[in-house]
Amino acid sequence: MKKLTFLGICIFLTVTGFAQDIITLSAPHMDGGMPLMKALKNRQTSREFADKKLTDQQLADLLWAANGINRPESKKRTAPSAMNYQEVDIYVSTALGLYLYNAEKNSLTEILKEDIRAKTGIQEFVKNAGANLIFVADYSRMTKSDEKTKEAYAMADAAFISENVYLFCASEGLATGVRAYIDKEMLGKIMKLTPDQHIMLGQAVGFPKGK
Ligand SMILES: Cc1cc2nc3c(=O)[nH]c(=O)nc-3n(C[C@H](O)[C@H](O)[C@H](O)COP(=O)(O)O)c2cc1C
Repeated sequence: MKKLTFLGICIFLTVTGFAQDIITLSAPHMDGGMPLMKALKNRQTSREFADKKLTDQQLADLLWAANGINRPESKKRTAPSAMNYQEVDIYVSTALGLYLYNAEKNSLTEILKEDIRAKTGIQEFVKNAGANLIFVADYSRMTKSDEKTKEAYAMADAAFISENVYLFCASEGLATGVRAYIDKEMLGKIMKLTPDQHIMLGQAVGFPKGK
């Protein structure tokens, strides 16, 4: 048993012959927040972050707002997805490691035990954000579409998730900035992505500098 203070319960699971850490997230708060029109008024891109990590609750709420399940009966999400492919996964890079968000289980699966935040984008500021989200589309889930359509759908679906993150951050008083400026080949190798997995966008999330 390993303890990760920032996220709660941690258990070991044996999957396909190797152990992976699964971290159960706090139950997301699905009510409250800022009125929508005020959040829209405050939405903006930030590129300066304080050296401070998100709380357990903020991370859980952020991920649910981004692309959590809001209709359990159909397993549909807070963000729309073309043909309901749900092909975009959210990877979360923090000071402690790289994790994959599992919306159904409300958990994070540990992918790497290292801090790769600096490598999630080409700009200097990415290393300072408490969490860097990486939106990765798995084209193997888009079974009824040709390659060009897959790319268009995946980018649109990632952008919807990104806007959810923008609005959550505006409501929560957090700083955020979406990013296409990524060395995708290098990052894909570090993240051990398969040939079907494509990095769409990154998004830095953290506390505003000076707050
Ligand atoms: C698809 C997309 C990609 C972007 N990529 C980057 C990026 O790589 N780096 C960056 O600093 N900002 C990036 N931005 C943020 C834009 O520069 C920003 O949205 C724009 O300047 C308008 O500012 P605002 O978001 O505060 O309204 C991106 C925005 C979008 C929509």
